[in-house]
Formats: sequence, structure tokens, C-alpha cells
Amino acid sequence: MKILITAGPTREFLDPVRFLSNRSTGKMGFAVATAAAEAGHSVTLVAGPVQLDTPNGVCRLDVVSALEMLDTVQRELPAYDALVMTAAVADWRPKRTAAEKLKKRDMSAVLELEPNPDILKTLLPQKGDRIFVGFAAETGDPLAEASRKLAAKGLDLMVANDVSRPDAGFEVDTNLVTLLMPDNSPVPLPLLNKLEVGRIIVDWLERKKGRTDKA
Ligand code: C5P
Repeated sequence: MKILITAGPTREFLDPVRFLSNRSTGKMGFAVATAAAEAGHSVTLVAGPVQLDTPNGVCRLDVVSALEMLDTVQRELPAYDALVMTAAVADWRPKRTAAEKLKKRDMSAVLELEPNPDILKTLLPQKGDRIFVGFAAETGDPLAEASRKLAAKGLDLMVANDVSRPDAGFEVDTNLVTLLMPDNSPVPLPLLNKLEVGRIIVDWLERKKGRTDKA
């Protein structure tokens, strides 16, 4: 299969030195890319700003902002069988980005923001028989929000993870996720290394593609 994977945070700049972002390190997306390449798939990783080495055999395209990530994914998507969006895309960007560093005295205490486009929702009309996978990082019980997002974004699989635990979610090498599919009961996985979670997702993609090809 040809698999397009996004990873990491995005940065939304106020000026050349200041930005809005989040705690994503890209580990989960890089693990999915590693697992997919190990399984012999052709993998492109669209990476936000992260401090990770490119996995062997993976083609990497670096982006910074949500709008750049959208442009790159939109351009690449037609050539792929599956899109796995692990990226923690910033929901908002500053309404204005200054070309020069803003002086403290010229800054207001209130920052004007505008929403970033939802990449998955924007690309839904181009989905065709491609497989779309999303991730939902939630605190508390992740399932209700994750299943709402699964439906709203028209996904084939939503991977829900509880980022309030110290051993799951951002920055760590392990993750505790539940797989949600339309019309199926949730499949909770035990605490696993992110590479193992990546392998399970790749395995799921292979089986899903097999079923789609037969139908
Ligand atoms: O941020 P949220 O919880 O809605 O993210 C759920 C899924 O949607 C993730 O797979 C994420 O990569 C994707 N997403 C997106 N475009 C955004 C925000 C999130 O495609 N602007």
C-alpha cells in the first residue's frame, strides 16, 4: 500500500520568534511510519517541527504550520491508499503574523486568533475508497469525544488515547489506546510501546484494504 502519515505538532507564528503550538513530539506518527515501512509499504511522512530521525525507507516532507500541512497532504493524497493523521494540528492561528519581531510595548494582552481548517474534513470529498485514520487525544474518558469525531470527520478508524496518564500520549514511548470503528464496539488495547501500536494499526490497514479490494 501507499500510506501517507502526518506527525507532530504544527506551529502558528505571531512573529519570526513567537508561536502557538502543543506538546506533541511526533513519536506516535513516526512509530506508525516505521511499522508501515517495516511491513514493506511505501510511506510518506508529513512531519511538523519534531526532533526525531526519519525512519529507514520513509520519505519525509517537513512542514511548519497547519496551512502548510493541509497544502502538502492535499497535494500528495491522490497517489495514496491510506491517510493516517496522527498530527496534533493547532486548532487556531494568530489572525496576523508580523514580519518583524513584535516589541513588547506594541503587543496587546489579547491575541486575535482565527480557526485553522480541519485537514480531515477538508479532504473528505477527495476520500474515494481511500482509508482515513484519525487520532483523538483526550483527557478523562476519551471514548465519547473520539466517537463524535469519528463520525464528524467520516473516518474508517479513530484511535482514541487518554493523554492525562503519565505513561500514555505526549512525549512518552508507550501509549494506551482504544480503536473505534463505525458500527463496531470499541477495541481497547493494553499499554503498549508506540511501535507496537503502530504495527497494530498497519495490520488493521492491511486487513481493511483486503476487504475493500474484495468488495
Ligand atoms: O484535534 P482533534 O481532536 O479534532 O483531532 C482529531 C483528528 O483530526 C486527528 O487525527 C487530527 O490529526 C485531525 N485534525 C485535522 N485537522 C485539524 C485538527 C485535527 O485533520 N485542524
